[in-house]
Amino acid sequence: MPSESPECLSEALQLLMTGDLAEHGWSQQNIFLPAELTVELAEECRALELSGALNHAAVGRGAAQAVRAEIRGDQILWLKAGQSSACDRYLQIMETLRLILNRKLFLGLDEYESHFAFYTPGSFYQTHLDRFRDDDSRTVSVVIYLNPDWLPEQGGALRLHPEGQPAQDISPIGSRLVLFLSADMLHEVLPATRDRLSLAGWFRRRPSLPG
Ligand code: OGA
Ligand code: MN
Repeated sequence: MPSESPECLSEALQLLMTGDLAEHGWSQQNIFLPAELTVELAEECRALELSGALNHAAVGRGAAQAVRAEIRGDQILWLKAGQSSACDRYLQIMETLRLILNRKLFLGLDEYESHFAFYTPGSFYQTHLDRFRDDDSRTVSVVIYLNPDWLPEQGGALRLHPEGQPAQDISPIGSRLVLFLSADMLHEVLPATRDRLSLAGWFRRRPSLPG
């Protein structure tokens, strides 16, 4: 088994992750990406930022789409297959994770979409759901963090609001993976005192037919 494959996660760990997701609506895995791949992806994200390739993320869809930094302040770039060997390795790992989620939870996930996200100090993303009102295809949300040596006092937590449970703050520590159910989990990104780099992604199902 190649070392970067989540297949190298033991069956017990796969069960823990999928069990948490099914039972609590979210799951966290601390050393998910190999350290050297995390470094490569962080370097790529920084290089994209320096070259001006990132775009201010918009909120809403269609005609209502607009950049509104008072709601969402990150800069993003959608990944394309073949853009770099590091991104391709990452996408391959997520493909393996897709198969694990389908095998264990029968989620019927068809595809994965993902972008780099770069939050400069002070920027944030207000409480939201990842599923769009007019498109129910996003099923499982993924965030992987790319920040070495993150300290809790630097802020930048992902704050989950699981229904009927206390809020959960998760620091954006490098190589950490967080999964949650896109339809149900309210969440927000708190401001940080340093740059905050991540890959966000969504496993999608084919949209259900109208009616
Ligand atoms: C998002 C998001 C969480 C994070 O991009 O929709 O909620 O921790 N990201 O970066
Ligand atoms: Mn989100």
